[in-house]
Amino acid sequence: MVIIRVVDVEVRYDSVKALDSISFDVFEGEIVAVVGPNGSGKTTLLKIVDGILKPVKGSVYIDMKNVVDIPRKQLAKEVSLVTQSTYVVPGIKVIDFVLTGRRPHIDFMPTRKDIEISLNALKAVKADNLVDRDLTELSSGELQRILIARALAAEPKVLLLDEPTSNLDLRFQIEILNLVKSLSREKSLAVIMSLHDLTQAYRFSDKVIVLKNGRVYTIGRPDEVLTENVIEDVYQVRVRIDRVLKAIIPVV
Ligand SMILES: Nc1ncnc2c1ncn2[C@@H]1O[C@H](COP(=O)(O)OP(=O)(O)OP(=O)(O)O)[C@@H](O)[C@H]1O
Ligand SMILES: [Mg+2]
Repeated sequence: MVIIRVVDVEVRYDSVKALDSISFDVFEGEIVAVVGPNGSGKTTLLKIVDGILKPVKGSVYIDMKNVVDIPRKQLAKEVSLVTQSTYVVPGIKVIDFVLTGRRPHIDFMPTRKDIEISLNALKAVKADNLVDRDLTELSSGELQRILIARALAAEPKVLLLDEPTSNLDLRFQIEILNLVKSLSREKSLAVIMSLHDLTQAYRFSDKVIVLKNGRVYTIGRPDEVLTENVIEDVYQVRVRIDRVLKAIIPVV
């Protein structure tokens, strides 16, 4: 079932046209990687699906409803965005931070159920051992997991991740991507994540959107769209692609 439908969207920051004529669908349980050079519109695309940014043209539908018609609190139950630049306030414990992900569901005070769901989200990212730690005392890999746990605590249908593997060591990069994959499969979550690493996009997504200058350059299955020609056109870098290893190697 289609859970996200983006139709002919245009986004502007004052005079800058950041996205132009963007259309695509995302299905339940599907992982979509958004790739493209710096400034090509990846973060902007995630923000329009999250409803933080409004397109000047076109529409975004979540579960067949136009995002502009969904009250903010309701939308926050359905869509969770994990950005790169989350400001971490000192003196906050991991569990209390993850509980803030329940905010769209909480009317007055968190209930036992909210705490249980938050603890389960921490377990899902294998960080339940960190519940009592102060947020500022975590490594970047640990913090990244906590940010994802908070997003999951909202029990969304759609998870949006902006460069989830940047700042992580090799092991954590793979662990986070494997985690995203299993969550998507187990909970039928639709995931859109921006990635700079094309090999990761190749290995961990069902569909790739390649952006260039705010437009969809191409979209499709990773093995179809990630070709030497596409990558050279979009990045001006020559690459060799190993189809067995699913690896994209720059030729320098
Ligand atoms: N708040 C803003 N005000 C004005 N222009 C902006 C703003 N945010 C982004 N832009 C511009 O919109 C375009 C798309 O930016 P966006 O952040 O979506 O790119 P990106 O693909 O995420 O880049 P990166 O790989 O560097 O994260 C760029 O030209 C950028 O300069
Ligand atoms: Mg970005």
